[in-house]
Amino acid sequence: MAVNIKTNDKTQKPLFEEIDFIGYDKAIILNKPKLLEMINAAGNEVSLSALREKIFTLRGQLSTIKTDREGLLNIGINGDTIQINQKYLFGELKQIVEAQTLDRSKYYLHRLAKAVAEQKTNKINDLNLNRWKEYDDILTDSLWVLDKRDSSGVHKADYWGNFIPQIPNQMMKRYTKKGEWVLDTFAGCGTTLIEAQRLGRNCVGIELQPNVVKTANDLIWSELNRFNTTNEVIKADSANIDYEKLLQKYRQNSVQLLIMHPPYFDIIKFSDDPRDLSNAKTVNDFLAMMGQIVRKASAVLDKGRYFALVIGDKYSKGEWIPLGFLTMQEVLKCGFTLKSIIVKNFEETLGKRNQKDLWRYRALVGGFYIFKHEYIFLFKRK
Ligand SMILES: C[S@@+](CC[C@H](N)C(=O)[O-])C[C@H]1O[C@@H](n2cnc3c(N)ncnc32)[C@H](O)[C@@H]1O
Repeated sequence: MAVNIKTNDKTQKPLFEEIDFIGYDKAIILNKPKLLEMINAAGNEVSLSALREKIFTLRGQLSTIKTDREGLLNIGINGDTIQINQKYLFGELKQIVEAQTLDRSKYYLHRLAKAVAEQKTNKINDLNLNRWKEYDDILTDSLWVLDKRDSSGVHKADYWGNFIPQIPNQMMKRYTKKGEWVLDTFAGCGTTLIEAQRLGRNCVGIELQPNVVKTANDLIWSELNRFNTTNEVIKADSANIDYEKLLQKYRQNSVQLLIMHPPYFDIIKFSDDPRDLSNAKTVNDFLAMMGQIVRKASAVLDKGRYFALVIGDKYSKGEWIPLGFLTMQEVLKCGFTLKSIIVKNFEETLGKRNQKDLWRYRALVGGFYIFKHEYIFLFKRK
């Protein structure tokens, strides 16, 4: 299909064929100086048609190795390279040729040259903000409707109460750099640590139940550790562990991201251990235990860095208990700024599966709505 360009000239043909992006949405490695040379050469043109011609040539060169006469796809052993998303790059080229004036076209060209030449990152992640359009996978809205759990590799759905891997994945991509350290105080079967290992982050997890600790470590260690990071779940009580001492084991003084996915009070009983937060006697006891864990763990979180709390509400004796917001208030007493409240959907849990009709009936009788969401509260340490 061809693109219709808004123009007064009715005879003008479409300039750029719409690319069927299927198969193009992948990273390609290019010869960076060559790419810049071609972009800059187009930028030196004095007419719009000559500039467009140069961009057509560039796109032709990029399409297949056979048409690559300039050596764009030809990477020397010590050559300077750039890894770039092909869909993003083609989208930028399309915008350049579709611009209606030479100035506008040059403006887009200049922006592309900058994105290729310069790395603009901030202190808390590795995202190159000059190429922000490439990050289709990074969520920025406060409503997350994720239809499928990532079940790749060793990720398993069978630990009752684990979260979907996309949660720690999103958090680490946005709030950590490669090689940094993450702390998960309720590690469960190690979802955060598996993701951390894949993303090149180090992660220490704490979990109370010895059998769960073993399962988590077996899973983590059975996956390829491409970036040679440290990822380990320790058996301990998050409320009473000495966090400084724990980190010393890894020659660290602090972590750069804190993730907590506690029991949602007593919705799922994880064990008989009285230290287990799912065995708290009352909501207030639960909140006091959470407060203690947040205070202790946040002492090893670097200032200005993020804390993601994943939690849902509960329903008890005919009343909706806003556990999420109550816990959020506890955290706000511990020196944090609230940055976002993300609402995330969930489909039926293992517990509620096969009970859909029963819950719908209960909801209709009881005048309430069935939980289909949980929260990710995002805080920044002051
Ligand atoms: C909601 S699950 C976390 C699941 C985890 N995010 C995953 O994906 O596997 C909560 C976990 O916290 C653990 N837990 C409860 N109280 C704890 C405590 N005081 N210290 C450490 N772990 C605790 C439970 O055993 C349970 O595995």
